[in-house]
Amino acid sequence: MVAYPHRHLLALQGLEPPYIADLLDLAESYALLNRSGKTQRDLLKGRTLINLFFEDSTRTRTSFELAGKRLGADVINMSVSQSSVNKGETLLDTASTLNAMHCDLLVVRHAMSGAPALLSQKVDAAVINAGDGTHEHPTQALLDALTIRRHKGKLENLTVAICGDVLHSRVARSNIHLLSAMNCRVRVVAPPTLLPSEVERMGVEVFHDMKSGLRDADVVMMLRLQKERMAGGLVPSAREYFRFFGLDGAKLSLAKPDAIVMHPGPMNRGVEIDSAVADDPARSVIGEQVEMGVAVRMAVLDTLSRNLRRNARP
Ligand code: NCD
Repeated sequence: MVAYPHRHLLALQGLEPPYIADLLDLAESYALLNRSGKTQRDLLKGRTLINLFFEDSTRTRTSFELAGKRLGADVINMSVSQSSVNKGETLLDTASTLNAMHCDLLVVRHAMSGAPALLSQKVDAAVINAGDGTHEHPTQALLDALTIRRHKGKLENLTVAICGDVLHSRVARSNIHLLSAMNCRVRVVAPPTLLPSEVERMGVEVFHDMKSGLRDADVVMMLRLQKERMAGGLVPSAREYFRFFGLDGAKLSLAKPDAIVMHPGPMNRGVEIDSAVADDPARSVIGEQVEMGVAVRMAVLDTLSRNLRRNARP
């Protein structure tokens, strides 16, 4: 095990493979612990974790809350509608309030790319990015990698097709960084309007049709069409989008026969994925992704809290 060298987890871009592998190994041990029904409530005893969510979330917030509680932390959820942000408080005022409360671990979701990084410069707590704008969502990519590794026995040399609204997806960005660092072949499959310009520079192969993009893939990762981030006009209609880019049994048959199907949730059924595929226990690992999410977040909280201890306040 190599000691994680940072105080925060803000992004996966640039994180060296040994640290990724270590986080995944630790998460695997937490996955086994969770299945056994045991907890480790002494690890974060006396530590305070604040979930600071400026954007809606069900699974990510709940997952961090469970992870913190299973490790014994005091967990507080601050959602924007109840906070002073609606009254005009700036992000930096929020930071000084959190500092005064002696928060140890701060989980932040924000619509603005870079907001967690900005907060991390102003708070004493270790900051975990739980999704910032279209930038990154590191714990989602870690839980995706753990799920893939459990099914394929490895990450190296797999072909992973990331399909759909890559343009607005922080999940796609974090996955591209992690999977490329772990020597996967990463493809993005989407209409040109849903791809960032110069996406090739991220080291991915680009496909504009599912037929060629899914051929011989080991992993098919579907993304939600993020309508709330679109000004409009990027896709003709949901029905047409499904016809060309929605994953159904026929398109999935182009991938390897044992290819797994993933989706970070929440799903738009009948838009980017057909229910028959999403609910097929032989192919879909979507439920397991949620399960691995708790384990990964326990591993991240554990890892960052070790660095906290080293720099503990008197
Ligand atoms: C993702 C997000 O919020 O970035 N969801 C999640 O965290 N499970 C993806 C999405 O919203 O489509």
